[in-house]
Amino acid sequence: MSSERYSSESVSPEPLAQPLHFHPSGRVSKNRFLKSPMAEALASWSPKVPSERGIPNDELVELYKRWGEGKNSWGVIITGNIDIEFDALDGLADMVITPECPPEGERFEAFKKISAAAKVDGSLIVAQVTHPGRQVQARLNPVAISASDVQLEPKMGMTFGKPHAATKDEIARIVEGFAHAAEYLHKAGFDGIELHAAHGYLISQFLSRTTNKRTDEYGPQTIESRLRLVSEIARAIKARVPADFIVSAKLNSVEFQDGGVTPADANELCERLEALGFDFVELSGGTYEALGMGYEKESTQKREGFFLEWAETVTKSLSADHKMKTYIVGGLRSLGAMVKALDSFDGIAIGRPAAAEPRLPIDLIEGRIQGALKPLGDVEADFGLGMGVALSQISQVAKGKEPVRHNDPVAIETFGRDMGEWYQNVVKDGPNMEYIRAIQYSGPLAPYGTVASK
Ligand SMILES: Cc1cc2nc3c(=O)[nH]c(=O)nc-3n(C[C@H](O)[C@H](O)[C@H](O)COP(=O)(O)O)c2cc1C
Repeated sequence: MSSERYSSESVSPEPLAQPLHFHPSGRVSKNRFLKSPMAEALASWSPKVPSERGIPNDELVELYKRWGEGKNSWGVIITGNIDIEFDALDGLADMVITPECPPEGERFEAFKKISAAAKVDGSLIVAQVTHPGRQVQARLNPVAISASDVQLEPKMGMTFGKPHAATKDEIARIVEGFAHAAEYLHKAGFDGIELHAAHGYLISQFLSRTTNKRTDEYGPQTIESRLRLVSEIARAIKARVPADFIVSAKLNSVEFQDGGVTPADANELCERLEALGFDFVELSGGTYEALGMGYEKESTQKREGFFLEWAETVTKSLSADHKMKTYIVGGLRSLGAMVKALDSFDGIAIGRPAAAEPRLPIDLIEGRIQGALKPLGDVEADFGLGMGVALSQISQVAKGKEPVRHNDPVAIETFGRDMGEWYQNVVKDGPNMEYIRAIQYSGPLAPYGTVASK
């Protein structure tokens, strides 16, 4: 087996081991690593009974325990997106908290177990909460809410619900959904919330001129009006949780579309979010229509981060004494690139490598490795394939196994066959929504914790 990792210039990991102080919550992350949200597809699912959806199980508890354990584990652990309606899910088998869910009972106890497991060695556990808006799969809900009625064309093998412009009552319900989820999560022991305001989900549909064509006070006319939904959500959350609960957002620094968010927009948005009392933003980019998750440009290959150059223009133009912290996400793989990113951002956020190696920050900080494992061939270059591998690895860790090594040719060949079978099942399932799980790897996997990093 090849144990090849991304190569790195020789640098000390020390800057990444420094604590990060958040304002206004006053909370402190033990280091500069943030585990990015990755929807796990592990919660309960029922095709027919909506209220039975989205209850976390013991596999999720096991998964979050693994990301949390160790003195030098992830400073901040963000959960995969948690939805606020049973019929407006980003993905089937996401975790769900709707305004109808009381802070007691089976669902609530399960959320409590997740937060307790993640925090055992001092990580902060922050829940990403989202509404997909027009990005809801049509087989789940043919009627979608959005800022306006701009239909999303089929993408990534999915077709999407027909959107209508959210009414004032629907907007009030969305605000309540986020605020209720924040209060519920606080009671369940979570340290904070991250609003998903990136990647073309509902909040970003209001922020972007490509999808927001409204003429009322939520329209794109001014920065205040585009931000009205997010401002109302933030205020409603803050009215319901104590001041030390972290409020943060994942935000696009750029969208590669006419009328999409530009770095200048993102800069203005960041200044407003800071004034609204956000502790940090995780800067990303792209939407379902133009993902931007790749290393095509030479400058990106060199510095690794997909959105670095746009996100940098965002942070560089924030006021010198800005209190809201910034994380950069997307493509960071070597220690050198991670340390260098701290010149422009307060912390670095990592997605897929956190599925392949839940212990990544520990091994980097403690000097055992200088970069993430380098996956074979298309697993890195093709984001869809990389997501499939990451989701499978997440399900393996959740079952107490070491994740499949995506740099092992034999394992990847087996995985390819398993993926073919999985795909046939997905196609056969069609609108039934009964076949929803990650690709099941059929090769051997070691028990979790029995393989040392090298
Ligand atoms: C399996 C999988 C699930 C994801 N789910 C989410 C999600 O729920 N919310 C989100 O904001 N981003 C999600 N992402 C995107 C990641 O958070 C991250 O932005 C992206 O993978 C780029 O970072 P990376 O190059 O380090 O993987 C997901 C990515 C993967 C691979």
